[in-house]
Amino acid sequence: MIHITASHAQLLRHRGSSALAFRWELEAGRDLEASLATGDSYVVVMRQTEFHQHCCEMHMNSADPYHFQTLHAPLPIPGFGWMIKGMHSIKTTYGEGEIDGKVEKRRHLTIFREKTSGMYFFGKKRWPLPFSESIAALIDTIVTFEGPNMMHFRLVTPLGTIRQVKTILPIEPFKQQVEMYWYADRSVPRIIAYLLSLIGKFAVEQDRQVWENKIYWKNPVMVEGDGPFMDFFEWYNQFYSESSAKIGQHQLEW
Ligand SMILES: [Fe+2]
Repeated sequence: MIHITASHAQLLRHRGSSALAFRWELEAGRDLEASLATGDSYVVVMRQTEFHQHCCEMHMNSADPYHFQTLHAPLPIPGFGWMIKGMHSIKTTYGEGEIDGKVEKRRHLTIFREKTSGMYFFGKKRWPLPFSESIAALIDTIVTFEGPNMMHFRLVTPLGTIRQVKTILPIEPFKQQVEMYWYADRSVPRIIAYLLSLIGKFAVEQDRQVWENKIYWKNPVMVEGDGPFMDFFEWYNQFYSESSAKIGQHQLEW
């Protein structure tokens, strides 16, 4: 059984009845739930933290390929980031996501694929970290955003699949309780899955300073090379109802 979805599902259901524009069943973690029940995968670790930011920030990463080349370039292992830098590319499609291992079109889903080409000393393409390009070529990262507050990561490796389910629970205005649940296929050694979960933890901390200090602009100035921010805003907008703006003006009534 997946432990994560219960409280979150309740919240979504509660909101679905009053504020959200529409409701849906949580589906993207269904196959994980099944594989845990059969023992084909196991629970690695759960971590919890708080972020002082709007609940959309993590999802908005999907529209920002450039920050993967800058903010996420340093290897997210303390003490190594200044020296070893990764090169990442991402591709995002709004309106679809993975359900039971298949890409399905659903209005409330978004799919995001990340590919690392390798790790390089001081970010110089001519100085690759030995074997990093060939190892990176074997790993695919696919993320499905399910609604406004959930993310499902799937890291496909030659050892098996490692998954992370991340829930973003608003507990106060601009304060999110974030829980990260890690799972791995039975074939993946626990230590490998655990180390990857640590890297994931450090990677999300790379964003913190930016996320917690952003200002909302209704009509942001976009420049050539920026990601599909307007597509993201349009997608995320479906999770607001007509009364959301009214509620937002009275923060204390949140
Ligand atoms: Fe990020």
